[in-house]
Amino acid sequence: MGKNLFEKIISSHFVSGSVQPGSEVGIRIDQTLTQDSLGAMAYLQFESLGVEKVKTELSVSYVDHLMFQPGSENADVHRYLESVADKYGIVFSKPGNGICHQVHLERFSQPGKTLIGGDSHTVTCGAAGMLAIGVGGLDVALAMGGAPLYILSPKVIKVNLIGSIKEWSSAKDIILEILKLLTSKGNVGTALEYTGPGIQNLTVPERATICNMGAELGVTTSIFPSDEMTKRFFIAQGREKDWQELLADPDATYAKEITIDLSQIEPNIALPHSPDHVCTVKEMEGKPVNQVLIGSCTNSSYQDLMTVAAMLKGRKIHPSVSLGIVPGSRQVLSMITQSGALYDIIASGARILEAGCGFCVGQGQAPQTGGVSVRTNNRNFEGRSGTKDAQVFLVSPATAAATALSGKITDPRDLLLNYPQICLPEKYDIDDSMILYPSNTAEIFRSAAIGTPPFNTPMPTELKSRVAIKVSDMINTDDIIPGGSAMNYRSNIPKSCEFIFKFIDPLFPQYCKENKEAGVASVIVAGISYGQGSSREHAALCPMYMGVRVVAAKSFERIHRDNLINFGILPLVFVNDEDYERIEKDDELFIDDIYNVIHEPRIQVSNLTKNYSFTTVNNLTMRQCEIILAGGKLNHATQK
Ligand code: F3S
Repeated sequence: MGKNLFEKIISSHFVSGSVQPGSEVGIRIDQTLTQDSLGAMAYLQFESLGVEKVKTELSVSYVDHLMFQPGSENADVHRYLESVADKYGIVFSKPGNGICHQVHLERFSQPGKTLIGGDSHTVTCGAAGMLAIGVGGLDVALAMGGAPLYILSPKVIKVNLIGSIKEWSSAKDIILEILKLLTSKGNVGTALEYTGPGIQNLTVPERATICNMGAELGVTTSIFPSDEMTKRFFIAQGREKDWQELLADPDATYAKEITIDLSQIEPNIALPHSPDHVCTVKEMEGKPVNQVLIGSCTNSSYQDLMTVAAMLKGRKIHPSVSLGIVPGSRQVLSMITQSGALYDIIASGARILEAGCGFCVGQGQAPQTGGVSVRTNNRNFEGRSGTKDAQVFLVSPATAAATALSGKITDPRDLLLNYPQICLPEKYDIDDSMILYPSNTAEIFRSAAIGTPPFNTPMPTELKSRVAIKVSDMINTDDIIPGGSAMNYRSNIPKSCEFIFKFIDPLFPQYCKENKEAGVASVIVAGISYGQGSSREHAALCPMYMGVRVVAAKSFERIHRDNLINFGILPLVFVNDEDYERIEKDDELFIDDIYNVIHEPRIQVSNLTKNYSFTTVNNLTMRQCEIILAGGKLNHATQK
């Protein structure tokens, strides 16, 4: 029987398990990437493994998140990352070289290879025919040490794209349409494989925009075939030798198929505060806007910025708007400079910001109080912009430029401009001088800003615990631990813990402390899709450090559930939603004989305060049970 793309790459990297959907499969990892916000902890964890050199074909450490702190902490983290990379055989991409996913796509992606990254948008490289998966930093550390990655085999959905995209609609509008269709809930355990006649004219950067927001869908991965269009991209990047054709077999089978007619896609917009809250731009037209920001790993390619520059050329942005442009990489910045497009952007009144994540992760550019911000990035969770009551809308670069020109949300077709037909360049500007290859000579730099990886203790035989917080549905990792200034303490775990649930219940750290002092573990109770958003492992690592042993939820998002397991926290799913309703903060919970019951498909939890028991689903694999009982993956790996 023929194989789809996912099955082809899994079989060439198979280590153990089964590709049957829902079964655990172990795969060999060729490449890893990290970004600086989570990378420091990943490399500290890697160091604790005692491995001499990374065992992957390629591991790259990027600096793109932490670039705005006034003190020395960011610089110290960067220096640590650079020195640890040099010592252990890791490639280092310097600050200013660009966003990890953009640079990785340009300079290191390879069709048919496996890539994991300590960042949920690692899936972006699926655009080049890679099996690219976002994971927690600890999984990256273990893969660098030579361990396979274990995932639950997803069911693969064929997304058949037909027709051609209309002028003024774009790849961003396609993925927003898919988010409207599939939403950001309920896609755990699936992978999207894009195919059909409609993909032929989509360039690799356009495919990257589509794959990138697979993270917002919550799918395990998204992938395009490696075809003639992919080959053109690799030739233009001077990397033809890295290209190989990779197509699904004609008789490949899929769990499900959906068809999307690209000719029907309108300019779309995601409304506050969720990327799947999508309508057409037409429906929102006329809303006054304070700020427009163009960039991020979703929309900052050469094509994106050339489109924006062509629209701004010879025009001035609306006086009430602040327009910021963030090139995705130094390569893109160089090319728009050489072409003169940068001048057109600056002359319009736009601000040019450093190539990096910047506004996307709340590092600068917080909108005014109660402001309206229109952005091209992938997330608009409440507060992520740095302004709690701001309204953030997500759009394509063309809609963003049209909005900046008119001062209100505007469908780009309304401006009656000539459509800028921007093609893939024949040749990208290639200058890898900000990419450092390891010389294996460095002394590792350490300062007070560089902490140590915290180890957990093994699970006690009987689990006495108390509910420290009860939260609602769709809690994302920004809700658990915010971006912005909190990110400056990612390698200082005690300090990071102060930010946990800061905007939901700032007393959560205090409750955990009291529970610890009373000799009981803490429990988090949550609704559906707990842990949406990013691979931010501090959303699990910090609760572990604070004594959380169980999260009981109506459902979990994939990466966060994996991270909870990685840090020895038991993820339990309520069988009956009424049990979620019944449970309250401070309820005392008890699980007896956990070393045995953890292997059962159902776990009974006694609510001692209210004198009843409730049933939870426990679908851990044998390996995951061992990890949780050991107190987490780091204990599990180092105690063997
Ligand atoms: Fe950076 Fe935002 Fe992408 S934080 S990696 S630009 S999602």
